[in-house]
Amino acid sequence: MINAKLLQLVVNASNDGIVVAEQEGDDNILIYVNPAFEALTGYSADEILYQDCRFLQKDDADQEGLQIIRDGIKNGQPCRATIRNYRKDGSLFWNELSITPVLNEADQLTYFIGIQKDVTAQVEAEQKASGLEEELRQLRAATQ
Ligand SMILES: Cc1cc2nc3c(=O)[nH]c(=O)nc-3n(C[C@H](O)[C@H](O)[C@H](O)COP(=O)(O)O)c2cc1C
Repeated sequence: MINAKLLQLVVNASNDGIVVAEQEGDDNILIYVNPAFEALTGYSADEILYQDCRFLQKDDADQEGLQIIRDGIKNGQPCRATIRNYRKDGSLFWNELSITPVLNEADQLTYFIGIQKDVTAQVEAEQKASGLEEELRQLRAATQ
């Protein structure tokens, strides 16, 4: 079994964001964020602990992917979606967010673990490719 110190070293070394949140009413408040989460979002742990992570959406909460996240959390099921998030400086990044419920010894849902992967480069490449495909389709249609 891995010991607590080694586990902490590993989580601290992760290149992806790793957070733990605790259920408190309708909110899931952050009780741990790793250094990669701080680097990705521009917020230090001190600024955001005990808040729900929705502050990363700023005023962009009307997103398809967020419904998947809401349903997963409500039903205590693992869920994954790619959503738009905003750093402290306001810049956008695409977050492939994976959330997994963690049950306590009495099988009660108490915590969630969240993993944040920055997929901005992939999403922008996909958007560029579909833009080019659309241009090509229009050019073909115009020359037929
Ligand atoms: C462990 C955990 C990590 C989360 N990480 C993020 C995140 O990185 N970005 C984000 O926009 N929302 C994140 N959320 C989702 C929000 O906290 C919130 O649950 C979501 O916005 C849906 O709830 P709402 O409709 O009440 O805002 C996370 C939730 C949990 C439980």
